[in-house]
Amino acid sequence: MGAIDLHARASRDFAAKLEATKALLRRAAAEFAPVTQASSLGAEDVVITHLINALELDIPVFVLETGKLHPQTLALLERTRASSRAAVKVYSPVQEQVIAFVAREGEDAMYRSLDLRKACCYIRKIEPLQRALAGHKAWITGLRREQSGARAEVPFIEPDGERSKINPLADWTWGDVWHYIQAEGVDYNPLHDEFYPSIGCAPCTRAISLGEDFRAGRWWWEQESAKECGLHVKTDTNEKETA
Ligand code: ADX
Ligand code: SF4
Repeated sequence: MGAIDLHARASRDFAAKLEATKALLRRAAAEFAPVTQASSLGAEDVVITHLINALELDIPVFVLETGKLHPQTLALLERTRASSRAAVKVYSPVQEQVIAFVAREGEDAMYRSLDLRKACCYIRKIEPLQRALAGHKAWITGLRREQSGARAEVPFIEPDGERSKINPLADWTWGDVWHYIQAEGVDYNPLHDEFYPSIGCAPCTRAISLGEDFRAGRWWWEQESAKECGLHVKTDTNEKETA
């Protein structure tokens, strides 16, 4: 049974939510330009990219290609680049930094300590994110309140340092996301059919079992409270993490 069969179930007020989401995306393009969408190519992000394309909005998409993504994610990235009306830009880490880090700490450094894991996330995600966001007034993410306790209060629009972060699916359920994917025939990462609800880098993502939390497969060896990579932590905190 695939993710669509398992999850697609619209909330009773889905039609209203969808209209509000479209209105927010239109507003983002009109009032927050230049604005860009951050896509991990996860289920939420493919929905947002589909809406941006359907509404013909002037919102380019970017993907942080960490060098550690699953082959299934890379294949979806290629399909998305080929099919998207909106530009899809790829940001990679600085190769010299990756090579030096791996030479010093090894390929499996992330499992040895939280500091090493965060150092890897900094090189592979945070520094490229800063380049991706440069010159933009706002960015759009697929954060949803339902994803974790830490995200329970995610607003639709929030200040994020010098720019704004827009979370158009903040109030969508997992059922809403899959209902949209089914209804619109959106291409998605086949790892979702193998019990990966939340997909990051391959070494730091595993499938979940029945009854486990949505993000249980991310950095599963760490304490629940530490499980954010820094993409969604305030900028000054990101800087502190690198010190
Ligand atoms: S993370 O902080 O734990 O990695 P998560 O995977 O839940 O984040 O994704 C939340 C949102 O962050 C995504 O919807 C997307 O907007 C952004 N994001 C996460 N990973 C990437 C990536 N590799 N490239 C671009 N955006 C990303
Ligand atoms: Fe490195 Fe894992 Fe962070 Fe990816 S998620 S950047 S592999 S520590």
